[in-house]
Amino acid sequence: MNHLIAPSILAADFANLQRDLEMINKSDADWVHVDIMDGMFVPNISFGFPVVNAAKKHATKPLDVHLMIVDPDRYLKAFKDAGAAGITVHYEACPHLHRTIQAIKELGCKAGVALNPHTPVTLLQDIIADLDLVLIMSVNPGFGGQKFIDNTYKKLKDLKELSRQKNPGLFIEVDGGVDQHNITKLVDAGANVLVAGSSVFSSADPATTIAHLKYPEKL
Ligand code: DX5
Ligand code: ZN
Repeated sequence: MNHLIAPSILAADFANLQRDLEMINKSDADWVHVDIMDGMFVPNISFGFPVVNAAKKHATKPLDVHLMIVDPDRYLKAFKDAGAAGITVHYEACPHLHRTIQAIKELGCKAGVALNPHTPVTLLQDIIADLDLVLIMSVNPGFGGQKFIDNTYKKLKDLKELSRQKNPGLFIEVDGGVDQHNITKLVDAGANVLVAGSSVFSSADPATTIAHLKYPEKL
C-alpha cells in the first residue's frame, strides 16, 4: 500500500480554515488530521465541536480525529456526529480500553489507539486484533512544531512486527515532527499514515509540500 498523508489542521490558519481545507481537498493528502486537546491530558487546549463541524462542512477527505483528552468515552458520539470518520484515543487515558474501542466501532468509526513516546508497543498485544489503527506519537502530545524523537523508528518496527503477526491490515500512523527529511525512513520502518502539521503549513507552498511527502521518491 502507498502510504497516506494526513495534514494536521492544528497548524492551519483558523481565520482561513476554509481556504486551508480547500487546499487539502485539492492536494495529494488522504485524510485530515484533527487534534483535540483538553488542557488536562495534555497541557494545551486546541479546539472543540464548532471547529470540527466547520471542518466537516468544507473537507472532502475523511476526518481523522485524535483525542488527547481524559475520559474520551464521554464524547465519542459527539465527535462521530461532528463528522469523525476515525477516532483515536490515548492508551494512557483509557482504563477500559477494550470497551472504548468497541464503542467507537459501534458508532461506525475506525478505531485507533495512540501511544505516548514512553508507552511500549508490547502493551497492545491483547487489543491489537480489535484495532483499525495505532498512532505512534513521535513527540510528546500537546503542541505542534516539536522535535522528532528518534526512538520512534524502533517503536514503528516493533509495531510493524506485531501487526504482521496479529493484524496485517493495521493502519500504522506516526504523528509529530514529520517532514520531507524523515518521511522515507519512517515509511521504511513501517509507518503507513503520516501526520504532518508545521512542515506543511509553515512551508511556502503547502500543497507542494504535501506532494513531496506523498511521493518522496520524486524529490
Ligand atoms: C501533537 C499533535 C500533532 C501535531 C503535529 O500533539 O498530535 O498532530 O499537530 O504537529 P507537527 O507536525 O508540527 O509536529
Ligand atoms: Zn495528532
